[in-house]
Amino acid sequence: MLKGYVLVTGGTGYIGSHTVVELLNNDYKVVIVDNLCNSKALVVDRIEKIAHKRPDFIEADVRDKEKMREIFKNYPIDAVIHFAGLKAVGESVEKPQLYYDNNIGSTEVLLEVMKEFNCKNIVFSSSATVYGNPKRIPIFEDDPTGEVTNPYAETKVKIEIILKELAKIDSSMNIAILRYFNPIGAHKSGLIGEDPNGIPNNLMPYITQVAIGKLPFVHVFGSDYKTKDGTGVRDYIHVVDLALGHVATLKKLEQNPGLVIYNLGTGIGTSVIELIEAFKMANKIDIPYRIEGRRPGDIDECYANCDKAFREMGWKTKYNMVDCCKDSWNWQSHNPKGYEE
Ligand code: NAD
Ligand code: UD1
Repeated sequence: MLKGYVLVTGGTGYIGSHTVVELLNNDYKVVIVDNLCNSKALVVDRIEKIAHKRPDFIEADVRDKEKMREIFKNYPIDAVIHFAGLKAVGESVEKPQLYYDNNIGSTEVLLEVMKEFNCKNIVFSSSATVYGNPKRIPIFEDDPTGEVTNPYAETKVKIEIILKELAKIDSSMNIAILRYFNPIGAHKSGLIGEDPNGIPNNLMPYITQVAIGKLPFVHVFGSDYKTKDGTGVRDYIHVVDLALGHVATLKKLEQNPGLVIYNLGTGIGTSVIELIEAFKMANKIDIPYRIEGRRPGDIDECYANCDKAFREMGWKTKYNMVDCCKDSWNWQSHNPKGYEE
């Protein structure tokens, strides 16, 4: 077990906050760095309520090198989990420079400061988006990546390249690239969850906002995909399973594996209609929807083969679609305005 701290960048965000809870539950010492551009400081109180321990929190931008050096001076940091980044695909098309600067720039600063302070372990939040339009389904880790069509995805591809290069030139580094599929759900307590700004881009938060009456119906984007019912198929993973995947990954890094790459998903493909129906059944709430045209850039199917993560780390998901739907609704219904009180 690592003796020092785990630095969690973006630790007040959706996936970061759930991961911090599981790290604290597993007796890791945690310091969060987040600039709060897409989250609230109140999340730290919520984490403490769940875990009965308070992570240290520093409001700072990971691109601020002096601030990051100060943090590494003040804390003995053994490992970094790097969640901090911007993630809205549409916004990245409008503001590509912002995405390159924030996502790639923060990673570069982080790696420089880690080198200066001899910190050897990093876990990076990559995405299934690096596979672009996959050549085969389910997707394996060594399938081709890089043919992507938006700046957000480009930042993930570029950061993966930087990390792979680093692994080549510095064999003392332990680097885990985790490619997340579609995280949904929330902590069982209903105290933390996904809190999108404005109208949600992603399907599950859209469904929960229809359920709460904020939006009238779900727009189903396309019914002519080459899938079981014509609607898009994705691999929805409970965010707590994803969080536990990070705990397993830290344990893996303690064995000095060098560079490792894992898909974190369920291996199960679910269509848009199936997700809406599952939500209706699990929560006994009607969800009206309308079939509309395709959303530009969307693909037919995307789901993971996750055997490698199980083989090498003993990690697999334990929550099912009913848990995902119930926990998403539990969070939304207890926090109709998200973290805004
Ligand atoms: P999120 O927006 O909820 O969390 C990201 C956090 O990073 C936010 O709290 C934000 O304030 C912070 N942040 C952003 N830029 C920063 C900077 N320069 N300095 C300090 N803090 C900064 O997003 P999330 O859903 O929790 O995603 C976490 C990571 O996982 C991101 O890198 C994202 O690209 C990746 N990812 C997310 C998904 C998804 O569907 N949610 C899927 C695949 C990959
Ligand atoms: C999104 C991101 C992608 C990221 C992935 C993982 C976009 C464009 N892409 O992809 O970069 O890696 O999440 O989290 O944001 N849908 C509807 N109606 C809606 C919203 C979505 O029908 O209102 C459909 C989509 O067409 C898709 C499915 O639901 O078939 C899932 O969509 P979404 O939740 O946005 O995730 P991804 O498209 O997989």
